[in-house]
Amino acid sequence: MIFEPFKIGNLDVKNRIVMPPMCQYSSDNSGTVKPWHIAHYVSRAIGGVGLIIVEATAVEPDGRISPDDLGIWDDSHVDGLKELVKRVHENGAKIAIQLAHAGRKSKATNEPVAPSAIRYSEHYGHPRELKENEIEQIVDEFQSASKRAQKAGFDGIEIHAAHGYLINEFLSPLTNKRTDMYGGSVEKRAKILVEIVSAIREVWDKPLWVRVSASDYAKGGNDVDDTIDILNLLRDRIDAVNVSGGGLVHDQSVKVYPGYMIDNAGMVKIGTGLAVIGGGLINSLEISEYALNSEKCDLVFVGRQLLRDPYWPLKIAHESGIDIEWPFQYERAKDVTKLKT
Ligand SMILES: Cc1cc2nc3c(=O)[nH]c(=O)nc-3n(C[C@H](O)[C@H](O)[C@H](O)COP(=O)(O)O)c2cc1C
Repeated sequence: MIFEPFKIGNLDVKNRIVMPPMCQYSSDNSGTVKPWHIAHYVSRAIGGVGLIIVEATAVEPDGRISPDDLGIWDDSHVDGLKELVKRVHENGAKIAIQLAHAGRKSKATNEPVAPSAIRYSEHYGHPRELKENEIEQIVDEFQSASKRAQKAGFDGIEIHAAHGYLINEFLSPLTNKRTDMYGGSVEKRAKILVEIVSAIREVWDKPLWVRVSASDYAKGGNDVDDTIDILNLLRDRIDAVNVSGGGLVHDQSVKVYPGYMIDNAGMVKIGTGLAVIGGGLINSLEISEYALNSEKCDLVFVGRQLLRDPYWPLKIAHESGIDIEWPFQYERAKDVTKLKT
């Protein structure tokens, strides 16, 4: 099933393998695309990934996780991103971008911001509580970033609402202690995300989805049911959800094993009816097939396995005798019985 095509909204993806966003910390203070990014993403396209999601890309300089993050806060970022999109397309994959703001987990600023002035740990700065007009400004930044993503030719946008970065900080009661319209009930905590989705929808008509931490893996934090309630506030405006977990608090408690977040993906799929990208330590065809055949998710994200092996999709197809299209340059490795000398 992993090599069967899937449609996210109106986007045709040739198989169910998604490279999830993974920060490379390989730009510089400019935030522009570097040769590393081209080599890194293009090699996974050559390796047979259906959909590549570019790493967390900052909508403003203070929203970077590190000073070497990719950026999309300025028009000067568009040319490099456009080149990246073109090169990935030439090699047969679809490419989306993850739009992000690091919130209190930014190490690129002396003045990190957050819904509430609670720091992540002693290794991070003390965040300042955002004022309402600053929240509106951040919503606008996500919209401007989406216009640039459109100019660069991306096939999809993923909003980073997971892993304890700004939007996740608003969503969780552990990090959002506000008493204004952006804090309190699920609806109020989700208000910033709903506003961002609506603002992007004004300028973007291609597939749009959200990455969530389905569970904070911490007492008093969000669990899958809360996440489903949040997603149901957006369901009619997004095309899918990428289900991850954790990263909100430093003392989270999570057991990891191959496929450890797939059950959460399945619950989100049932609870929202959205197309779901799921995973967590996926490292074999068997686990992927289990996730897909059990209908817990529609696509699987394969992160660190693809860092170890950019050609993992070609490799598992080869090992299991599944006939897929290979880059013509590599066809002599597809069926070695046809080896010409
Ligand atoms: C080097 C690295 C960087 C990451 N950066 C991001 C990121 O930018 N955005 C994001 O949502 N997740 C990020 N993640 C999490 C991955 O997308 C993925 O969810 C995680 O690695 C678990 O999947 P895996 O077990 O298949 O690797 C990162 C993970 C790694 C290893």
